[in-house]
Amino acid sequence: MIERLWAKFGKTSSQPSEPLATDNLPQHVAIIMDGNGRWAKNRGLPRIAGHHSGMKTVKRITMAADRVGIKYLTLYAFSTENWKRPKAEVDYLMRLPQEFLAIELEELIQNNVQVRMMGYKGGLPDHTLQAVETAISRTANNTGLVLNFALNYGSRKEMLGAVREIAAAVQRGELSLDAIDEKTMSERLLSSGLPDPDLVIRTSGELRLSNFMLWQMAYSEMWFTDVYWPEFTEEHFLEAITEYQRRARRYGGI
Ligand code: FPP
Repeated sequence: MIERLWAKFGKTSSQPSEPLATDNLPQHVAIIMDGNGRWAKNRGLPRIAGHHSGMKTVKRITMAADRVGIKYLTLYAFSTENWKRPKAEVDYLMRLPQEFLAIELEELIQNNVQVRMMGYKGGLPDHTLQAVETAISRTANNTGLVLNFALNYGSRKEMLGAVREIAAAVQRGELSLDAIDEKTMSERLLSSGLPDPDLVIRTSGELRLSNFMLWQMAYSEMWFTDVYWPEFTEEHFLEAITEYQRRARRYGGI
Protein backbone atom coordinates (compact mmCIF):
# COMPACT_ATOMS: atom_id res chain seq x y z
CA MET A 1 0.00 0.00 0.00
CA ILE A 2 1.58 3.26 -1.12
CA GLU A 3 1.10 6.15 1.25
CA ARG A 4 0.45 9.42 -0.54
CA LEU A 5 2.38 12.40 0.73
CA TRP A 6 0.54 15.43 -0.56
CA ALA A 7 -1.93 15.18 2.28
CA LYS A 8 0.90 15.88 4.70
CA PHE A 9 1.32 19.27 3.08
CA GLY A 10 -2.36 20.09 3.31
CA LYS A 11 -2.35 21.09 -0.36
CA THR A 12 -5.32 20.95 -2.63
CA SER A 13 -5.14 23.37 -5.56
CA SER A 14 -1.50 22.81 -6.53
CA GLN A 15 -1.46 19.04 -6.31
CA PRO A 16 -0.20 17.29 -9.40
CA SER A 17 -2.59 14.77 -10.89
CA GLU A 18 -0.39 11.93 -9.62
CA PRO A 19 0.10 12.26 -5.87
CA LEU A 20 3.57 11.67 -4.48
CA ALA A 21 4.29 8.10 -3.47
CA THR A 22 6.54 7.31 -0.55
CA ASP A 23 8.21 4.40 -2.28
CA ASN A 24 11.24 5.01 -4.49
CA LEU A 25 12.11 8.28 -2.79
CA PRO A 26 15.56 9.69 -3.50
CA GLN A 27 17.71 9.07 -0.44
CA HIS A 28 19.98 12.03 -1.13
CA VAL A 29 18.84 15.25 -2.82
CA ALA A 30 21.45 17.89 -3.68
CA ILE A 31 20.46 21.39 -4.75
CA ILE A 32 22.31 24.11 -6.65
CA MET A 33 20.42 27.10 -5.28
CA ASP A 34 20.68 29.64 -8.10
CA GLY A 35 18.97 32.86 -9.13
CA ASN A 36 19.01 34.92 -5.95
CA GLY A 37 20.70 37.84 -7.72
CA ARG A 38 18.33 37.86 -10.71
CA TRP A 39 15.30 37.53 -8.43
CA ALA A 40 16.44 40.65 -6.57
CA LYS A 41 17.35 42.57 -9.72
CA ASN A 42 13.89 41.93 -11.19
CA ARG A 43 12.45 43.63 -8.14
CA GLY A 44 14.87 46.55 -8.15
CA LEU A 45 16.46 45.20 -4.96
CA PRO A 46 20.14 44.74 -4.11
CA ARG A 47 21.54 41.24 -4.73
CA ILE A 48 21.85 40.60 -1.01
CA ALA A 49 18.08 40.88 -0.68
CA GLY A 50 17.93 37.88 -3.00
CA HIS A 51 20.30 35.95 -0.78
CA HIS A 52 18.24 36.84 2.28
CA SER A 53 15.10 35.63 0.58
CA GLY A 54 17.00 32.52 -0.53
CA MET A 55 17.75 31.79 3.12
CA LYS A 56 14.02 31.57 3.77
CA THR A 57 13.74 29.04 0.95
CA VAL A 58 16.45 27.00 2.67
CA LYS A 59 14.17 26.72 5.70
CA ARG A 60 11.11 25.89 3.60
CA ILE A 61 12.83 23.16 1.59
CA THR A 62 14.62 21.68 4.60
CA MET A 63 11.29 21.23 6.35
CA ALA A 64 9.72 19.83 3.18
CA ALA A 65 12.57 17.32 2.75
CA ASP A 66 12.19 16.29 6.37
CA ARG A 67 8.45 15.76 6.02
CA VAL A 68 8.80 13.81 2.80
CA GLY A 69 11.34 11.49 4.43
CA ILE A 70 14.46 12.43 2.47
CA LYS A 71 17.52 11.20 4.40
CA TYR A 72 20.19 13.61 3.08
CA LEU A 73 19.78 17.15 1.73
CA THR A 74 22.91 18.88 0.42
CA LEU A 75 22.64 22.60 -0.34
CA TYR A 76 25.30 24.44 -2.38
CA ALA A 77 25.57 27.60 -0.29
CA PHE A 78 29.00 28.93 -1.31
CA SER A 79 31.54 27.65 -3.81
CA THR A 80 35.32 28.00 -3.81
CA GLU A 81 34.77 30.28 -6.84
CA ASN A 82 32.26 32.55 -5.08
CA TRP A 83 35.15 34.43 -3.40
CA LYS A 84 35.48 36.29 -6.73
CA ARG A 85 32.29 38.21 -5.96
CA PRO A 86 32.39 41.77 -4.57
CA LYS A 87 33.58 41.80 -0.96
CA ALA A 88 30.31 43.21 0.37
CA GLU A 89 28.35 40.33 -1.18
CA VAL A 90 30.82 37.73 0.11
CA ASP A 91 30.66 39.27 3.59
CA TYR A 92 26.88 39.09 3.47
CA LEU A 93 26.86 35.47 2.30
CA MET A 94 29.26 34.61 5.13
CA ARG A 95 26.83 36.06 7.66
CA LEU A 96 23.88 34.02 6.39
CA PRO A 97 24.72 30.66 8.03
CA GLN A 98 24.99 32.48 11.34
CA GLU A 99 21.69 34.30 10.84
CA PHE A 100 19.94 31.17 9.62
CA LEU A 101 21.16 29.07 12.54
CA ALA A 102 20.38 31.78 15.11
CA ILE A 103 16.75 31.65 13.96
CA GLU A 104 16.36 27.99 13.04
CA LEU A 105 18.74 25.84 15.09
CA GLU A 106 16.30 25.11 17.92
CA GLU A 107 13.63 23.99 15.47
CA LEU A 108 16.15 21.87 13.57
CA ILE A 109 17.10 20.21 16.86
CA GLN A 110 13.42 19.61 17.71
CA ASN A 111 12.98 17.98 14.33
CA ASN A 112 15.96 15.65 14.88
CA VAL A 113 17.87 17.22 11.95
CA GLN A 114 21.61 16.66 11.85
CA VAL A 115 23.62 19.60 10.45
CA ARG A 116 26.83 18.89 8.55
CA MET A 117 29.23 20.93 6.47
CA MET A 118 31.01 19.87 3.29
CA GLY A 119 33.76 22.30 2.34
CA TYR A 120 37.03 23.95 3.31
CA LYS A 121 37.04 25.47 6.75
CA GLY A 122 40.21 27.42 6.02
CA GLY A 123 39.29 30.84 4.65
CA LEU A 124 35.89 31.00 6.34
CA PRO A 125 35.51 33.89 8.79
CA ASP A 126 35.59 32.81 12.46
CA HIS A 127 31.99 33.88 13.04
CA THR A 128 30.73 31.72 10.17
CA LEU A 129 32.74 28.70 11.20
CA GLN A 130 31.78 29.05 14.83
CA ALA A 131 28.06 29.16 14.02
CA VAL A 132 28.32 26.13 11.77
CA GLU A 133 30.46 24.15 14.21
CA THR A 134 28.06 24.88 17.06
CA ALA A 135 25.18 23.59 14.93
CA ILE A 136 27.19 20.51 13.93
CA SER A 137 28.08 19.63 17.51
CA ARG A 138 24.60 20.35 18.91
CA THR A 139 22.96 18.12 16.31
CA ALA A 140 25.66 15.44 16.07
CA ASN A 141 23.54 12.79 17.79
CA ASN A 142 20.38 13.54 15.82
CA THR A 143 19.19 10.73 13.61
CA GLY A 144 16.75 12.44 11.23
CA LEU A 145 17.38 14.39 8.05
CA VAL A 146 21.05 15.19 7.40
CA LEU A 147 21.23 18.83 6.31
CA ASN A 148 24.58 19.15 4.61
CA PHE A 149 25.76 22.67 3.75
CA ALA A 150 28.26 22.80 0.89
CA LEU A 151 30.14 25.85 2.10
CA ASN A 152 33.41 26.93 0.49
CA TYR A 153 33.07 23.78 -1.60
CA GLY A 154 34.67 23.02 -4.96
CA SER A 155 34.63 19.63 -6.62
CA ARG A 156 37.90 19.82 -8.57
CA LYS A 157 39.81 20.96 -5.49
CA GLU A 158 38.17 18.13 -3.54
CA MET A 159 39.21 15.56 -6.15
CA LEU A 160 42.76 16.89 -6.37
CA GLY A 161 43.03 16.65 -2.59
CA ALA A 162 41.90 13.02 -2.71
CA VAL A 163 44.32 12.21 -5.54
CA ARG A 164 47.22 13.76 -3.59
CA GLU A 165 46.31 11.74 -0.49
CA ILE A 166 46.18 8.54 -2.53
CA ALA A 167 49.51 9.32 -4.25
CA ALA A 168 51.12 10.02 -0.88
CA ALA A 169 49.82 6.71 0.51
CA VAL A 170 51.26 4.89 -2.53
CA GLN A 171 54.56 6.73 -2.11
CA ARG A 172 54.76 5.65 1.53
CA GLY A 173 54.12 2.07 0.46
CA GLU A 174 50.83 1.90 2.36
CA LEU A 175 48.68 1.43 -0.74
CA SER A 176 49.36 -0.52 -3.93
CA LEU A 177 48.26 0.79 -7.34
CA ASP A 178 46.09 -2.28 -7.86
CA ALA A 179 44.20 -1.62 -4.63
CA ILE A 180 42.98 1.81 -5.80
CA ASP A 181 39.29 1.60 -6.57
CA GLU A 182 36.23 3.88 -6.46
CA LYS A 183 35.95 3.43 -2.70
CA THR A 184 39.56 4.59 -2.25
CA MET A 185 38.56 7.86 -3.90
CA SER A 186 35.09 8.28 -2.35
CA GLU A 187 36.49 7.84 1.16
CA ARG A 188 38.88 10.74 0.60
CA LEU A 189 36.29 13.20 -0.68
CA LEU A 190 34.65 15.82 1.52
CA SER A 191 31.39 13.92 1.09
CA SER A 192 32.85 10.82 2.73
CA GLY A 193 30.14 9.07 4.72
CA LEU A 194 27.29 10.38 2.54
CA PRO A 195 25.71 8.33 -0.25
CA ASP A 196 25.99 9.84 -3.75
CA PRO A 197 23.10 12.18 -4.60
CA ASP A 198 20.20 10.39 -6.26
CA LEU A 199 18.62 13.62 -7.45
CA VAL A 200 20.28 16.96 -8.24
CA ILE A 201 18.11 20.03 -8.61
CA ARG A 202 19.27 23.33 -10.10
CA THR A 203 17.07 26.39 -10.07
CA SER A 204 17.11 29.55 -12.23
CA GLY A 205 17.28 28.03 -15.71
CA GLU A 206 21.06 27.54 -15.83
CA LEU A 207 21.99 24.13 -17.22
CA ARG A 208 25.42 23.47 -15.74
CA LEU A 209 27.06 21.80 -12.75
CA SER A 210 29.31 24.65 -11.58
CA ASN A 211 31.98 22.46 -9.98
CA PHE A 212 29.45 20.73 -7.71
CA MET A 213 29.93 17.09 -6.62
CA LEU A 214 31.29 16.01 -10.01
CA TRP A 215 32.52 12.60 -8.87
CA GLN A 216 29.46 11.94 -6.74
CA MET A 217 26.99 12.85 -9.52
CA ALA A 218 28.13 10.12 -11.91
CA TYR A 219 24.67 8.49 -11.86
CA SER A 220 22.51 11.21 -10.33
CA GLU A 221 19.23 12.17 -11.95
CA MET A 222 19.16 15.86 -12.89
CA TRP A 223 16.15 18.15 -12.61
CA PHE A 224 16.27 21.75 -13.79
CA THR A 225 13.72 24.51 -13.35
CA ASP A 226 13.54 28.13 -14.51
CA VAL A 227 12.25 29.17 -11.09
CA TYR A 228 14.63 31.39 -9.11
CA TRP A 229 15.68 29.97 -5.75
CA PRO A 230 13.78 32.55 -3.63
CA GLU A 231 10.57 31.46 -5.40
CA PHE A 232 11.25 27.74 -5.17
CA THR A 233 8.43 26.17 -3.17
CA GLU A 234 7.54 22.84 -1.57
CA GLU A 235 5.39 22.19 -4.65
CA HIS A 236 8.39 22.56 -6.97
CA PHE A 237 10.39 20.28 -4.68
CA LEU A 238 7.68 17.62 -4.76
CA GLU A 239 7.40 18.02 -8.54
CA ALA A 240 11.12 17.22 -8.83
CA ILE A 241 10.72 14.16 -6.65
CA THR A 242 7.69 12.97 -8.58
CA GLU A 243 9.66 13.30 -11.82
CA TYR A 244 12.55 11.39 -10.22
CA GLN A 245 10.17 8.58 -9.29
CA ARG A 246 9.10 8.26 -12.93
CA ARG A 247 12.64 7.79 -14.20
CA ALA A 248 14.25 4.41 -14.76
CA ARG A 249 17.79 4.40 -13.36
CA ARG A 250 19.92 1.93 -15.27
CA TYR A 251 23.48 2.77 -14.19
CA GLY A 252 24.76 1.89 -17.63
CA GLY A 253 22.77 -1.35 -17.81
CA ILE A 254 19.63 -1.97 -19.82
C1 FPP B 1 23.54 31.68 -6.40
O1 FPP B 1 22.67 32.69 -6.84
C2 FPP B 1 23.46 31.62 -4.95
C3 FPP B 1 24.53 31.70 -4.13
C4 FPP B 1 25.91 31.80 -4.57
C5 FPP B 1 24.32 31.71 -2.68
C6 FPP B 1 23.30 30.77 -2.21
C7 FPP B 1 22.97 31.07 -0.83
C8 FPP B 1 21.73 31.01 -0.32
C9 FPP B 1 20.58 30.56 -1.08
C10 FPP B 1 21.47 31.31 1.09
C11 FPP B 1 22.23 30.35 1.94
C12 FPP B 1 21.66 30.22 3.24
C13 FPP B 1 22.25 29.54 4.21
C14 FPP B 1 21.49 29.28 5.42
C15 FPP B 1 23.63 29.06 4.14
P1 FPP B 1 23.31 33.93 -7.59
O2 FPP B 1 23.63 34.96 -6.58
O3 FPP B 1 24.47 33.50 -8.42
O4 FPP B 1 22.12 34.39 -8.48
P2 FPP B 1 22.25 34.99 -9.95
O5 FPP B 1 22.84 33.90 -10.83
O6 FPP B 1 20.83 35.30 -10.31
O7 FPP B 1 23.11 36.20 -9.87
